Amino acid sequence: MNQRIHIFDTTLRDGEQVPGCQLNTEEKVLVAKALEELGVDIIEAGFPVSSPGDFTSVVAVSKAVKDPVICALTRAVKGDIDCAVRALKYAKRKRIHTGIGSSDIHIQHKFKSTRHKVLEQGVAAVAYAKKFVEDVEFYAEDAGRADIFFLAEMIEEVIAAGATVVNIPDTTGYCLPHEYAEKIKFLVENVQGIHKAVISCHCHDDLGLSTANSIAGVINGARQIECTMNGIGERAGNTSLEEVVMILKSHKDLQFETGINTKKLFSTSNLVSRLMKLQVQPNKAIVGRNAFAHSSGIHQDGFLKNRDTYEIIDPADVGVDKSMIVLTARSGRAALRHRLQALGYSVNTNSINDIYTHFLAVADKVKQVEDIHLTEIMENVKVKMQ
Ligand code: KIV
Ligand code: ZN
Repeated sequence: MNQRIHIFDTTLRDGEQVPGCQLNTEEKVLVAKALEELGVDIIEAGFPVSSPGDFTSVVAVSKAVKDPVICALTRAVKGDIDCAVRALKYAKRKRIHTGIGSSDIHIQHKFKSTRHKVLEQGVAAVAYAKKFVEDVEFYAEDAGRADIFFLAEMIEEVIAAGATVVNIPDTTGYCLPHEYAEKIKFLVENVQGIHKAVISCHCHDDLGLSTANSIAGVINGARQIECTMNGIGERAGNTSLEEVVMILKSHKDLQFETGINTKKLFSTSNLVSRLMKLQVQPNKAIVGRNAFAHSSGIHQDGFLKNRDTYEIIDPADVGVDKSMIVLTARSGRAALRHRLQALGYSVNTNSINDIYTHFLAVADKVKQVEDIHLTEIMENVKVKMQ
């Protein structure tokens, strides 16, 4: 039987930390409703103590959304937790996400503290949050660079204090997949009481490894992935939701499943991109403009014979209408003929060579040949043929 992986969406919190891409409350509610439709399990709606606007947004999302758990971020500080409790008042299902740094770099330079003191502060925060909500997630910030024995001790103590989810962030995106995998495996094998909590992966993309690290995490025992639409977030961004979801769906051998309605991935990606005014790169996996576009002759020929030759995902599965054959100077006769036939021209073996010569001349000039160019080419060829 497949194991269920929980999708924790942090587009509205970590994702919204992209400079210049802040959303107003109305826009956040629109995104939250789209995420609910998409089927995410948890929506991290914001960091209520950070600003009155964020507080208001967490309240509004809590009122607007009913199925996913609504989560609010706090530092390991009583005032933050009190504020989160107020912001989550209307949430049908609520979670407080509290935590503190776990690496020596964070402990010494950011907190100017000691391992012992931050551990005590983390445990106290979980115990305090637990007075208000049953569902408390603890993040061990910069766990990616933390000493593994200290991390294990911290995770053991916060679980004993009542944490229901333990988040192991690779805050700086430093870990290699096998290192992140070993970290999760070590915690599974060495932390007493680990089975009382869900282990969560929260990876950043500074070295382009956030997706690989998250997948390595679930293979080794994590059951929640924290991610954002289009992979947006601080610096190089967070794990991309659409990527991890489609990896788990495509690799049936892994025997995982999520609750995501993948047919809504493309429209949700567009909504987030439009509202945040943040264009998706054309070659972005799953939701980029070119993710299902075939341009070279060899690929087009194979694809037209059988789509499985060059596509591992049916575009309809992620809500994209259909694959695209892009006609460029790298395209071959098979693709050209296919497009001409779709436009209603009957092209026989004798005429295709002549048409193809005209096509290449135009393609070299315009780079991408559109239907209007093909109509002109066919007009010219007709004139010449008469
Ligand atoms: O990257 C990180 O460590 C975070 C935590 C606040 C969860 O975003
Ligand atoms: Zn983060």
